[in-house]
Amino acid sequence: MAEEVVAQEHEASVASVESVESRATEVSAASAASPVSVAQKVAVLGTGKIGEALLSGMIRAGWSTDDLLVTARRPERAAALRARYGVETVTNAEAAKSADTLILAVKPQDMAALLDELAPHLPADRLVISAAAGVPTSFFEERLPGGNPVVRVMPNTPVLVDEGMSVISAGTHATEDHLLRTEAIFKPVGKTLRVPESQQDAATALSGSGPAYFYFLVEAMTDAGILLGLPRDKAHDLIVQAAIGAAVMLRDSGEHPVKLREAVTSPAGTTINAIRELEKHGVRHALIAALEAARDRSRELASGEG
Ligand SMILES: NC(=O)c1ccc[n+]([C@@H]2O[C@H](COP(=O)([O-])OP(=O)(O)OC[C@H]3O[C@@H](n4cnc5c(N)ncnc54)[C@H](OP(=O)(O)O)[C@@H]3O)[C@@H](O)[C@H]2O)c1
Repeated sequence: MAEEVVAQEHEASVASVESVESRATEVSAASAASPVSVAQKVAVLGTGKIGEALLSGMIRAGWSTDDLLVTARRPERAAALRARYGVETVTNAEAAKSADTLILAVKPQDMAALLDELAPHLPADRLVISAAAGVPTSFFEERLPGGNPVVRVMPNTPVLVDEGMSVISAGTHATEDHLLRTEAIFKPVGKTLRVPESQQDAATALSGSGPAYFYFLVEAMTDAGILLGLPRDKAHDLIVQAAIGAAVMLRDSGEHPVKLREAVTSPAGTTINAIRELEKHGVRHALIAALEAARDRSRELASGEG
């Protein structure tokens, strides 16, 4: 479910993709060499929404297109990626043979078929990074008998605006060097956080699906603004700016959210009246239950329940 929710939001982010793409094209002209200390060729396999977001982020970060390969299922998609980014498009088998690092960005249900295609061609030292929601590293390790290092990453949609959060877990054969190589790919599009794989379902509930909760709040609060007599566009602008301001305060002040909220909550004032209603309607409880439900669904997906 987390993946479905995230994917739906992503559909709605087409405008952001377009603007990111145009920025990517500008920066790529100035790119000379990859910013990683160890030269490595990276292939993105299954360059759909998330694959393209990562590709454009790497190019914006200064990776040379000479060090990047992409694969796509449809020829017209491959042609569009070549035209947009100036990258070489290859088959999955060619990517397996010539890339040092492979980022697998197909849907979870397409992953087994992709691994069947890759396995006969993939040298055992190649790093395999999976961006698929809910697919454990053991799934890859079982299908890649050479013992390839596998790293599992859960990004979220704000990678499109370089404000993503990518949650990273090492598989059995992945070393510190493999984690550093993974971070070099995901850091340009936001932050990264390492967690044990046992915490990936919780991280998916908080961070993978996280943007959806904020969009939901903005939608509901905009409706409230309309009820209070504001035009929709003004209500939207007020709430979005409040969200951005609050997010920057949370990130940059280092203060506990309770302290920040208290600073807005004067005795017998307006805010405490609103907070009383939120508590009365069990919003805190609803959020805890919602994230628990997302975590449970991620576990179900990981265990292969459809
Ligand atoms: N979207 C998100 O926000 C998000 C966030 C976190 C993680 N993820 C994960 O990222 C993965 C991709 O999600 P997405 O939303 O980017 O999906 P998507 O847009 O459908 O991208 C997947 C791409 O893979 C292509 N593909 C499928 N099988 C292939 C194969 N054998 N060889 C080459 N290309 C192949 C698909 O081709 P077609 O165009 O022909 O279908 C499609 O372009 C999923 O596993 C998802 O769990 C997504």
